[in-house]
Amino acid sequence: MSNLTLEQAVERVKKLRALIDDYRYHYHVLDESIMSEAAADSLKHELSQLEELYPKLVTADSPTQRVAGKPLDKFKRASHSSRMLSLNDVFDETELQAWQTRIDKLVANPAQYGYFMDIKMDGFACALVYQDGQLVQAITRGDGFVGEDVTVNVRTLDSVPLTLRQTKNTAPFLQGRTEIRGEIVMYKADFDRLNKDREKAGLPLFANPRNTAAGTVRQLDPALVVSRPLRFHAYDLQRDNPKEVPSYSKAYELLRELGVYANKVATVVNDLTSVKAFADEWEEKRQKLPFNTDGLVIKIDDRAIYERLGVVGKAPRAAVAYKYPAEQSTTKVKDIFVSIGRTGAATPVAMLEPVVVAGSTVQMATLHNEGEVQRKDIRIGDTVIIHKAGDIIPEVVEPLVTLRTGNEKVFVMPTHCPECNTVLTKAKADEAVWRCPNVACPARSQKHIEHFASKGALDIEGLGEKNVVALLEAKLIADQADIYNLTTEQVLALDRFAEISATKLVTAIAAKKNPPLARFLFGLGIRHVGTQTAIDLANHFLTLDKLQEATIEELAAVDGVGEVVAEAVVAWFEDPQNQRLLEKFEKSGVQPQSVTKQGGPLEGKKFVVTGTLEAMGREQAADKIRALGGTFQSSIGKDTDYLVVGANVGASKLAKADKLGTTQIDEQALLKMLA
Ligand code: IVH
Repeated sequence: MSNLTLEQAVERVKKLRALIDDYRYHYHVLDESIMSEAAADSLKHELSQLEELYPKLVTADSPTQRVAGKPLDKFKRASHSSRMLSLNDVFDETELQAWQTRIDKLVANPAQYGYFMDIKMDGFACALVYQDGQLVQAITRGDGFVGEDVTVNVRTLDSVPLTLRQTKNTAPFLQGRTEIRGEIVMYKADFDRLNKDREKAGLPLFANPRNTAAGTVRQLDPALVVSRPLRFHAYDLQRDNPKEVPSYSKAYELLRELGVYANKVATVVNDLTSVKAFADEWEEKRQKLPFNTDGLVIKIDDRAIYERLGVVGKAPRAAVAYKYPAEQSTTKVKDIFVSIGRTGAATPVAMLEPVVVAGSTVQMATLHNEGEVQRKDIRIGDTVIIHKAGDIIPEVVEPLVTLRTGNEKVFVMPTHCPECNTVLTKAKADEAVWRCPNVACPARSQKHIEHFASKGALDIEGLGEKNVVALLEAKLIADQADIYNLTTEQVLALDRFAEISATKLVTAIAAKKNPPLARFLFGLGIRHVGTQTAIDLANHFLTLDKLQEATIEELAAVDGVGEVVAEAVVAWFEDPQNQRLLEKFEKSGVQPQSVTKQGGPLEGKKFVVTGTLEAMGREQAADKIRALGGTFQSSIGKDTDYLVVGANVGASKLAKADKLGTTQIDEQALLKMLA
């Protein structure tokens, strides 16, 4: 960003503000989302960086300077007794440490007061006002000072007590004014159920639990609220005399005694190392929480100290939100290039300005195909929202068109393969994917070799992308079969290799001269032949020769193999280029192991496993069944002897088994057979 001229910065700041404000308006006022919170955070981050760089550009109405949006007019407005504040975010240990250092300057050794930690719930903030123990008002956050009076709706929530519970500790709270603040959340399971019911009823689906909760609370018809499963989770207890609630840990105890839910996982620790450990623990475990969360809230437990530390801008100094890595972020598309896959598919890929998403740096994102680029209107130079979930390849969600400068370039799909210059073709006019038809295209060969060596196929250690590229560029190999003729001397001549690594690679390749037939078949990269189909084919035909001779009818008769797969297999073996490849394998001494019926105790018995097994994975179960002479099938058929029923089984599988009269056994019974 620092490479912008002042003029460009002014322009960018203006556009960012307008877009963030638009997002905020939709999110807070209309309960709609025009982008994810993480994407908006990323834009806000860019804006605050620019404002830091050019302090003169900061204005009072900048989104960095305020909380939430204006309340809608449909409910009565209600003032908060004290401002409902927001929290500043920290994203890692360094920023957490910096937060402590900042408060260190104002109070000595803040750790002595303990850090109170809770899960940051992704819901809708609400303040409950009790007078002499009776619920009199429920107010939304609004702009922090004034919210909406949603009492009629909130009264319908079971989790909100209409009268506070009296115990010997809570007696003072049933006199005078008591305010309880918290988050109204919809549990993930409730949300899923609600959407399923809506789907059945043909109603439009809700986007996410947070928006559904917010939209429901601000519904004008309380009857509708009753039908939606909302819950109130408290995080604050306030009294006119603050001494009555000396700490947050005490507040949570009291809240529960008063009859309000407060998260049980909340706890107090005495140093930042323990804060970090708690954060790490919940980063993994948070998926199992019933509600959505994107982080933790960390506060100085002692409330007198908390108050003394005061407020900076919109947030208390004594608290922070520790945010987990966002799964969405914004970045710029530097370029769009076309990548050629194993099957020749030409995929447009966005080259991005590197950005950290969900803990790892993302520099590229697939754009799937030409149509997708056009549909989303993604241009070179666009600022885009990118999304990454788990190990899934990052995707471009959408371009932020209002940030365009006019210098963006529309992507034009090339007519020729960028690798071998062959004209790209489509099998059918209406197919979405362009392909390079040249089977000898170097890009295709590279992907084929990588696939052949990959974990699910021959699992050759040391033959990843970079080494494959180096070997191809040195013209030491041109296809999968060539790898078996590599010598240590040849490999050693390449810059990437030293004596040990070269020997290791050649040894690793030689060790895979007799791969199991199923792995070899999968490794060949025949279209539609995935791991399971390869296993089914191997189990049925037993040898490569027999498979090669099989007709479409014979292939289609195999359980788990349909017409499309059968045709693809036949076409693959009929292709002269593939026949040459198989001859080369043979000449190099590669001989896939035939599947032998060992005459074990499960000889002739055919098994299908459905659902999740506890003691072992599917693959492991398959291996064990095969080792005892049994056959592992991918789907149930007339000849299946046993259906092993694990956990979480879909009804359709069982119905089919019932219809076919297949014997159903549980995991225990299978284990006995395997023992
Ligand atoms: S403590 C100064 N605890 O997050 C406000 N807030 O971004 C301190 N939130 O306004 C509030 N879970 O609406 C606190 N366990 C939790 C929370 C929580 C969600 C919300 C709350 C707050 C916002 C700050």
